[in-house]
Amino acid sequence: MDVAVTLFAGELGTDHPGVRDEGYRARRSAIAAIAGDYRRGAAVPQAPYADEEHDVWRLVAAQLRDRHERFAATPLVAAADRLGLPDDHIPQLVEVSALLAPLSGFRYEPVAGLVSPRDFYSALGDGWFRSTQYIRHASAPFYTPEPDVIHEVVGHATHLADPTFARLYREVGAAIARCADERAVQFLSRVFWFTFEFGVLREGRDLKAYGAGLLSSVGELETFADAEVRPLDVVEMGLRAYDITRYQPVLYAADSFAHLADELDALLDGYDDDAYARLAARG
Ligand SMILES: [Fe+2]
Repeated sequence: MDVAVTLFAGELGTDHPGVRDEGYRARRSAIAAIAGDYRRGAAVPQAPYADEEHDVWRLVAAQLRDRHERFAATPLVAAADRLGLPDDHIPQLVEVSALLAPLSGFRYEPVAGLVSPRDFYSALGDGWFRSTQYIRHASAPFYTPEPDVIHEVVGHATHLADPTFARLYREVGAAIARCADERAVQFLSRVFWFTFEFGVLREGRDLKAYGAGLLSSVGELETFADAEVRPLDVVEMGLRAYDITRYQPVLYAADSFAHLADELDALLDGYDDDAYARLAARG
């Protein structure tokens, strides 16, 4: 089983920067608990952020803006401009939805922590992004071993402000809905990991980041070029395990933004249990 689905809300890994900070653990749990009573159709609840939490957002937002200019793929820089996230406070999920819905129809709803791949991707098919609300520990603002509000919003809402990515996210959700075999779900979730979470692409001679995990991490934006970079290969990505809790040692590079979209369209078109079985047999 992927590490990504073994870390549940309230369980911090021993190397989590906030694991020995009782105050942080209590804050994180309180904010996670807000999502516990939420059901789709009800008003999306707001997280009562403290000033110190807004400070983390302000610090990271300023650092990321600079890094995106240098290291992010051009379509994502344009998408971030269209989205117009605030720099001066953590946006509530309703605020993110208000910015995003006119661009792609996507809206944000809260979850307490990592949810199963099937739950996460199924919501995408319906135009909902299931997002954590708590923020990373102030002692390690430039990297988080688990999804936090910076990752979910700066990383993924930027994706969803791009029309091609928004369409592909919906198609991932539709494809998951066609799969009964959990191995087919895992294959697609691994492709998602190596593309939408940690993907890179070529722009001329430059290697640029587009994965949400890279776009939301100052540390990873500065070091991703040191990773082993392999050519985009859907079968290899779909069969490769990964570790969510460390910098990614292997990245897959598309030749261009159009190449990435073409490869994902080809995978997602009609993807189901049978398509998975054919792909896995090639691995
Ligand atoms: Fe993510």
